[in-house]
Amino acid sequence: MAQSKVDVLLGLQWGDEGKGKVVDVLTPGYDVVARFQGGPNAGHTLEFDGKKFVLKSIPSGVFQGNKVNIIGNGMVLDAALFKAEATSLEAAGVNLRERLLISKKAHLILPTHRLLDSAIESSKGSGKVGTTGRGIGPTYTDKVARTGLRVGDLLTPDFERKYGEAKAAHERILKSLDYEYDLSQTEAAWRDGLEYMRQFRFVDSEHCVNNMLRDGKTILCEGAQGTMLDIDFGSYPFVTSSNTVCAGACTGLGIAPGRIGRVFGIMKAYCTRVGSGPFPTELFDNDGKLLSERGNEFGAVTGRPRRCGWVDLVALKYAVRLNGVTDIILMKSDVLDTFPTVKACVAYQLPDGTETDEFPFDCEGAKPVYEEFAGWKTGLCGLKSEDDFPEEFNQYISFLEEYLETPVSIISVGPDRNQTIFRGK
Ligand code: GDP
Ligand code: IMO
Ligand code: MG
Repeated sequence: MAQSKVDVLLGLQWGDEGKGKVVDVLTPGYDVVARFQGGPNAGHTLEFDGKKFVLKSIPSGVFQGNKVNIIGNGMVLDAALFKAEATSLEAAGVNLRERLLISKKAHLILPTHRLLDSAIESSKGSGKVGTTGRGIGPTYTDKVARTGLRVGDLLTPDFERKYGEAKAAHERILKSLDYEYDLSQTEAAWRDGLEYMRQFRFVDSEHCVNNMLRDGKTILCEGAQGTMLDIDFGSYPFVTSSNTVCAGACTGLGIAPGRIGRVFGIMKAYCTRVGSGPFPTELFDNDGKLLSERGNEFGAVTGRPRRCGWVDLVALKYAVRLNGVTDIILMKSDVLDTFPTVKACVAYQLPDGTETDEFPFDCEGAKPVYEEFAGWKTGLCGLKSEDDFPEEFNQYISFLEEYLETPVSIISVGPDRNQTIFRGK
C-alpha cells in the first residue's frame, strides 16, 4: 500500500475501534510510528503469533523491527504506568530503549492528578464523565493553565520546586473537595518510575520528526481515543481532554498540516462506548448483548463493559468530514456474522421532531432512523481475500462507501495481525 510522507490513523467513533491492531499491521510500510495525544487512558490491543499485548502510552509500532517510535509532545505520561508497560515489553524481548523517543514537551501526569481525577468525578454525582481515572483531564487542565510539568523539566534543577508547587496546589483542591487520600505509596512508585524513565531518550521530537521528513523518512501518526471523544467536536462534556482529530497530529507532533497525506479512519462495523454520555444507537436488547459477547466488548484499560449499539453513520459522516478521511478501515465485521439482519443509523430524529443527517450540537435524546440490510450469516474470520466475501457483506460495504463518500481500503476480520484484508490487492 503506497504511503505518503506522513499518514495519520485515528478512531472515528468513541474509541476502541482497533487502532493498535492496524498500526501494527501498517508499521512495516513506515520508518516511524508516533503517538500524538492522550496517554494511559488508551488501551491498544495487538495480537500475533498467539501472543497478545495491550499498549497504553507506547506506540503500536514497537513489534515490527527496529522502527523509531515516538511519544509526542501532545501526550501525557504517567511514569509509574510507563515503567510497568515498558518493563513488560522488555521482558517480552522488545528492544525498547533503542526504538523509543520521548518528547521533552510531553506533560507529566503527577500522582495528585490521578487523585484529582477521582475526586472531581466523585463530586459530580450523576453527571460523571466515567473517566478512566488515569489523571488525564487534570493533567491537560494544568497544561492549558500553564502550570504543568513536562518531561524536559526532569532534566532541570527546578524540578523539585515545580513539583512541590503543583502538588501543594492540587492538595488545596483535594482538601476543598473533602477528598481523603494517602499519597505515600503512589508517590514512591511514581518517583521510581521517573528514575526508570530517565534511561530513555528525551528529545525535541518536533525537530526529530521534521529532520526525519527532510531525510525522506515516512511517518505513521497513531491516534488514541476516537473522534466522538474529541475535546472540541465530541459529545462534550462526555469526552476526553485532547484533540483526537487529525489536526491533533499537527499540534501533538509539530508536523505542518500540508505534510499530511492519507488519513486512515477506523470504524467498527457496529458501535461501542465506555463511560457516560449520549449514544443514540445504543441497544439494550438481545442484539446488544450479542454484540457485547461476540465482540468481547470489555475495556482494555479498566475492564469495564463497553456499551454496544448499531453503527451510527450520522456520527461517522461527521467524523470523516472533520478528519478528511481518505481511507476507511472496517473492523470487527466478523462479530455480526450470525445476525440475520444488520442495521445502520442514517439519520437522527431530534426531540423537536425534525430529522437530520448532520451531527447536532447535542445528540442527547436523538432517535436513530435505521436502514436495514440482510446479514451475511457466514463466518468471515478465516477469509483471506475480498473475492471470498459473501454478497450481502459486499452490499453492506458498498452502502458504507456511498454514504460516507470514502473508500473502504482495509477490512479486519479477527484480532490477529494476519486477519487483515487489503482491498484491491
Ligand atoms: P484500540 O483502542 O482502537 O486499539 O482498540 P482496543 O484494542 O481497545 O479494542 C479492539 C478489540 O477488538 C481488541 O480486543 C482487539 O484484539 C479486537 N479486534 C481488533 N480487530 C478485530 C476484528 O476484526 N475482529 C474481532 N473479532 N476482534 C478484533
Ligand atoms: P483507546 O485509545 C475508549 C473515555 C472514557 C471516558 C472519557 C474520558 O483505547 O480507544 P479520560 O480518562 O480520557 O478523561 O476519560 O473517554 N475514553 C476512552 N474510551 N477508548 C479509549 O482509548 C478511551 N480513552 C478515554 O471511558 O468516557
Ligand atoms: Mg482501546
